[in-house]
Amino acid sequence: MLSNPPPKIQPSSIRESSKNPVSKSGRNRLLVLVLFLIALSVFGGQPARLFGHICHGRSSLASWSGSPGEIYWEQCMPAVNNVECGRIIVPKDYFNPDAGTASIALGRYKATKHPRKGSVFLNPGGPGGAGTKMATAKGDVMAKLIGDDWDLIGFDPRGIGSTRPATRCFSSPSEDIVFFANTVIEQGITVSSISNLSSPLLYDQLVEQHRQFLALKQTQAELCRKNMGDELRYMGTAGTATVVRDIDFMAKVIEGKDEKINYWGGSYGSILGAYLVNMLPPSRIGYVAIDGIANPIIWANEPSHKWPINWVADAEKTYQMFLQDCSKAGPTLCPLAKHKDEHWKNLQRRLEEFFDATARNPIPVPFGNRPGFLTSGGARGMLEIFLQQPTVWPTAARAFASAMSGNATELYNYIVRPMPGSPSLPWPTVALNKDLVRLAVTCLDSPRPASKEAFPTAEDLTDQGLKALREVSEHFGMSTGISEPDGGCQYWPVDGPERFTGPWNASLEREMLIADPITPKASGLLINSLMPNSSVIIIQDGPGHCSLALPSLCTAKLQRAYFAGQVPKNGTVCGVDVSTFPDEESERLLMQSLSVEDRELLDALKGIRESMVEARFGFVF
Ligand SMILES: *[C@@H]1O[C@H](CO)[C@@H](O)[C@H](O)[C@H]1NC(C)=O
Ligand SMILES: *[C@@H]1O[C@H](CO)[C@@H](O)[C@H](O)[C@H]1NC(C)=O
Ligand SMILES: *[C@@H]1O[C@H](CO)[C@@H](O)[C@H](O)[C@H]1NC(C)=O
Ligand SMILES: *[C@@H]1O[C@H](CO)[C@@H](O)[C@H](O)[C@H]1NC(C)=O
Ligand SMILES: *[C@@H]1O[C@H](CO)[C@@H](O)[C@H](O)[C@H]1NC(C)=O
Repeated sequence: MLSNPPPKIQPSSIRESSKNPVSKSGRNRLLVLVLFLIALSVFGGQPARLFGHICHGRSSLASWSGSPGEIYWEQCMPAVNNVECGRIIVPKDYFNPDAGTASIALGRYKATKHPRKGSVFLNPGGPGGAGTKMATAKGDVMAKLIGDDWDLIGFDPRGIGSTRPATRCFSSPSEDIVFFANTVIEQGITVSSISNLSSPLLYDQLVEQHRQFLALKQTQAELCRKNMGDELRYMGTAGTATVVRDIDFMAKVIEGKDEKINYWGGSYGSILGAYLVNMLPPSRIGYVAIDGIANPIIWANEPSHKWPINWVADAEKTYQMFLQDCSKAGPTLCPLAKHKDEHWKNLQRRLEEFFDATARNPIPVPFGNRPGFLTSGGARGMLEIFLQQPTVWPTAARAFASAMSGNATELYNYIVRPMPGSPSLPWPTVALNKDLVRLAVTCLDSPRPASKEAFPTAEDLTDQGLKALREVSEHFGMSTGISEPDGGCQYWPVDGPERFTGPWNASLEREMLIADPITPKASGLLINSLMPNSSVIIIQDGPGHCSLALPSLCTAKLQRAYFAGQVPKNGTVCGVDVSTFPDEESERLLMQSLSVEDRELLDALKGIRESMVEARFGFVF
């Protein structure tokens, strides 16, 4: 049900301009180039880390304004082979022409094979992932998944990346980092011992941590209110329904108003995909593939503080797979095992003892991203993230084994952010604003408690977490705060222009393609069951979040065939092609056994996974 009437603003005057509309552009471009070169020399040839992708460095163009429907494309700076960067002006509010305009950043990887079939819009997830980067930095690898006869269009959704206006609540990146430093939002909730959830001492500890959580969320929302005011409603924080309107609008401008919308989205991109096919008339929808499915019904209909229990549905199963694979691999490949084929429960016992010991005594980390300490909540939360990414299980095992033997630096560095301006860091860094951008999207998508009386208390959140620990995942029921920082929407100062809450049973002209690994596959099956004649599901027989978390040539080829017009058989099961703890010899044999084309595809899949991990966590691991 739409909370508002259908949109009135459509692209009326479609003008494609190849000229840069900013008159001072030449000068500005020169300035940006000079700054870029200075950065290049100062930061040792790693400007990408500082600026994000090159498209993001062009602040001169960010202020470009025009009327809705105006678009331009030009060479990215520096140039990327076969890629264009651009901007499109869209209505800030599709229901209110007086609200002004927003400017969406675009990246386009052009079809290399002709005839060209059209454009596919990409969303790498997050929410908060800058989609331009997926097209500009990973366009060539995405083309291996989708096909080289499509233009691949990445865009930074509202409030994100180079799209303007941007979400800004803190006055500087340092203020953002200091605000979260050493809090439960950065470090997760510590459950001092999961062995006795009835302990009153534990209950009190959890309530105290949730009080801190609530106070932080309230403070953050107040800052956003003050720094963005009503702009927050449109700009920084358009909900998913508005992003669907944007895609519809962009597709009309770019391909013409009668051409259908084609889309590929992973993780949060699957939520956007489900909104897309269900919100717009079926006649607008062309090829749509979604991967790593999150449940859109819960997303749109339950307050966000109630979501966490859903994020851990298969966490225990995946934990067991991780430990079993580790012990099968043995200590050289997985140092958490003492010997090959040690019972996985021994590994689990040692890890759990480590979490309990760390709850009593956090581990000092003097020489990490920042001087600090590793908490049990942080370690457990990070394990929950690692479990979703089987490709990096060897990295996870190494970081945990090192922490368990007293050196927590590596593990800690995955969790906490360095201060901006720190000297060249050996560690990946979590994107600024990750929590904020997610909040901005989720708070406009989910229903918010109507009155102060309905606001969840620290006790409510504790009870809910304990329920998740008791009934769904005994080890990770309260540990999703780092990966999925949800909740706190009761303090969010504004509602969006539009919320979409279903129904989710659209009848499409062409089936939507759903891909999901077995852990978890429930949400994929749910969408498939709601659209039995309008979707097909591929189930990948391996762990992880998104089929790309552990590459499968079979899944990838079916996706590519789909975009070439061949709908796979519903319920097809695909194996994976990479083992979780690969040794050099078997890697070599695998590569030898593959055709050149398959090898390239496998490499491409690894590249796409990185793009999605970066969209979600702000860094690649
Ligand atoms: C758990 O804690 C409660 C309250 O302290 C206590 O009554 C109970 O015996 C404990 N259970 C176990 C198995 O230790
Ligand atoms: C701790 O681990 C980090 C990262 O692996 C390493 O750089 C550092 O040298 C180690 N510290 C000690 C005291 O071994
Ligand atoms: C979809 O579900 C809604 C409400 O649940 C129902 O009214 C409608 O008839 C369904 N549409 C289709 C195409 O099945
Ligand atoms: C799906 O198609 C079958 C066979 O044509 C039909 O009987 C059924 O009603 C359809 N279901 C939906 C939900 O449209
Ligand atoms: C499609 O496949 C899934 C997974 O096997 C199954 O649950 C579902 O019932 C199938 N749908 C139809 C319409 O056969």
